[in-house]
Amino acid sequence: MFSDLSINDIKANLTGEMGREIFFYETVGSTNALAAEISEKTVEGTVVIADSQQSGRGRLGRTWVSPPGVNIYMSIIIKPAIPPDDATLLTLMTAIACATALRKATGLDVSIKWPNDLVVSDKKLGGILTELKIERKILSAVIGIGINVNADMDVFPEEVRGVATSLKNETGITYPRARIISEILNEMDIWYRTLKNSGGKKILSEWKLLTSTLGKQVMVTVGQETFRGVAESVDDKGMLVLRLDSGEPKRISAGDLTVLR
Ligand code: BTN
Repeated sequence: MFSDLSINDIKANLTGEMGREIFFYETVGSTNALAAEISEKTVEGTVVIADSQQSGRGRLGRTWVSPPGVNIYMSIIIKPAIPPDDATLLTLMTAIACATALRKATGLDVSIKWPNDLVVSDKKLGGILTELKIERKILSAVIGIGINVNADMDVFPEEVRGVATSLKNETGITYPRARIISEILNEMDIWYRTLKNSGGKKILSEWKLLTSTLGKQVMVTVGQETFRGVAESVDDKGMLVLRLDSGEPKRISAGDLTVLR
């Protein structure tokens, strides 16, 4: 069942420090929850991977559908020496790493929808959930990554089917998950080093090259409020700068974005 998800295969293709320590489970509640439990006792770059999740977590309190045998569910533990205010950069950095790795592995035109959705053909291929332990500074960050790899669309509930896709659904090819995980971990290594050595500027400029959101007419829901306008830019903290239909600029730190046609 896990022949395409061998830890030895993942490790054999690593080029950096991410993933030198891997904890693998057949099933867990959530890899993010498990990684958070061990985050203080483990070295930076430790990764928790599961073949399935019973209660996979998505952004904004949603459920992440996590069937066995087909997708990637992993959480990376890092201990970044950056101010809590800059934490969004960790998610943007991860989106860059995932989009780049998936492009390399599949040739698909994977892009990033603000803030952290991985999309292809306007459908969601994957998502990122960053959870932090903060005591004045960031003690640890758990970066959860979910990628739909070989899932057929009928494994998803009806409401997800119309908006989701998988690598296999796009290309007809079945991919070895281990290979894709190694690619992502290698790109994470590169982009985390970039963040540490050169700061957020390089992350933001690369993110802008990979996003399909900027310049588009969008609708963003933040709690009970909805804003419409043009997604003009992201600022140096990764906040979306929306030019409202009224002409006013509006900065948004988190929300649900829909591209309008
Ligand atoms: C999103 O809503 O777009 C973020 C989804 C993140 C899902 C991943 S799967 C591995 C990790 N463990 C979780 O419970 N969630 C993240």
